[in-house]
Amino acid sequence: MPLEMLLPFLLELSLYVSSEFTHPELSQCFTVNGRDYRGAASQAGPDRTPCLYWNKTTQHLYNAQSDLDGKLGLGDHNYCRNPDSDVQPWCYVSETEEGIYWKYCDIPECHMPGYVGCFLDFGAPPALSGVSGTSSKLTVQACIRFCRTKGYQYAGLEAGYACFCGDSSDVATLQAASNSQCDQYCFGRPNEICGGDGKISVYSTWVGACNGNLTSSSGVLYSPDFPEDYGPGSSCVWDVLPPDSDAVELQFHIFQIIDSNDVLELRDGTSGALLMKIQGGQEPLSRVTLPTGHLLFRFQSDQEFSGPGYAITFKGLGKLPSSNISSLQKTSTYSTPFQSMSEDVALVSPNKTSEQHRDQHTASSKGLLLLAFALALLTFCVGIIIWRYPSCGWSSVVPCAVGQPSSCTMLYRPKKDGMGDLTSVNQSSMKSLL
Ligand SMILES: *[C@@H]1O[C@H](CO)[C@@H](O)[C@H](O)[C@H]1NC(C)=O
Ligand SMILES: *[C@@H]1O[C@H](CO)[C@@H](O)[C@H](O)[C@H]1NC(C)=O
Ligand SMILES: *[C@@H]1O[C@H](CO)[C@@H](O)[C@H](O)[C@H]1NC(C)=O
Ligand SMILES: *[C@@H]1O[C@H](CO)[C@@H](O)[C@H](O)[C@H]1NC(C)=O
Repeated sequence: MPLEMLLPFLLELSLYVSSEFTHPELSQCFTVNGRDYRGAASQAGPDRTPCLYWNKTTQHLYNAQSDLDGKLGLGDHNYCRNPDSDVQPWCYVSETEEGIYWKYCDIPECHMPGYVGCFLDFGAPPALSGVSGTSSKLTVQACIRFCRTKGYQYAGLEAGYACFCGDSSDVATLQAASNSQCDQYCFGRPNEICGGDGKISVYSTWVGACNGNLTSSSGVLYSPDFPEDYGPGSSCVWDVLPPDSDAVELQFHIFQIIDSNDVLELRDGTSGALLMKIQGGQEPLSRVTLPTGHLLFRFQSDQEFSGPGYAITFKGLGKLPSSNISSLQKTSTYSTPFQSMSEDVALVSPNKTSEQHRDQHTASSKGLLLLAFALALLTFCVGIIIWRYPSCGWSSVVPCAVGQPSSCTMLYRPKKDGMGDLTSVNQSSMKSLL
């Protein structure tokens, strides 16, 4: 085939790839659970059930009337939303068999930048081949942090409590699973997803990192430890160097910093000149353009409070005619009072107690706690057995191969009902993370 005929395909392919990896601003979600989703998906569940209009769900806790200021994104529409900090956007549906009246929406464009996807893990060998560990307090960032400090590029979470690390060679061989198969709440944070049964949720370890060189034409800056709160005493610097650019456009998707001593400073990387400074409590414009091709992005927090932090996308604007550069704002500070945080704080501990939806969560997190305790007990007992009867040998107890569940009954679970299933992963080789 002549090259001219191939070219459109190649272009299309590169557009597709770049939209996924180098244009995170095209993502419609920057939070780990899609709480910030404001797109127009309006079908739920695998069978694409139409969502009910939020202005018609007054019999339920969440409806257009309960969100008059629009903070939760509800209104005269039937788009999927996550007003209660669930694991992903959902909506009410009209089905009532077995009491189903809400469902999750599977929205491909709603994944935080840095989330690679949900993949199959057959266990032997594990999908990510690096170090691994388990924790009854596992969160997305706990695993990312673990893998980042061990020098890996990717972190994978499975079954709610297991963490695996790997590199791009592992990720290249992963087999995709459907997103709904990663359905296990993290043991340490029930509004985050930590894989599923034999399914692994994979993240890049730059999410929530402190320091780095960002040399792509666009990308996202997350606060340290995102999606968890940034800690006290953070001091991080990123060099933003989009290729062939005279200016950088920043777009603030999330900016939740309360402490006025926690400061974001944006400087010209060459001259060191201050371009913009935002203190906690202030609210930046949603979009600014800074006249530099090398942006020094520094975040500093004091010892007092921490907070959810920020998600800011950057985009190099290419070479500009010199007249345009001079017309750009040189230095800008913002003093608009920060909008009330109380709603956002309330979002973190939602109140849906009067409804079954919440009850399920409460029940399942209690179940998780119980089972985590049971696992700890089991580990302890097995330890005692091995210690007392070394001749029996560990190998007769584990690994829990799929074909021999009888020796491993405690490690299997009915779906969504507690302890995850690590398929045939050799758990004896996994150490506790925390
Ligand atoms: C809800 O909003 C839709 C779309 O604007 C509108 O057509 C419908 O009449 C509204 N329903 C009620 C009960 O207000
Ligand atoms: C960023 O690049 C500079 C100079 O190229 C280098 O000295 C520094 O170690 C890099 N930082 C990181 C975090 O990679
Ligand atoms: C540069 O400025 C001119 C006139 O002010 C404007 O039309 C043009 O779009 C600007 N170019 C860029 C890249 O912003
Ligand atoms: C949660 O809802 C219940 C019943 O609707 C109410 O009694 C309680 O005060 C609410 N709690 C909060 C923190 O809003």
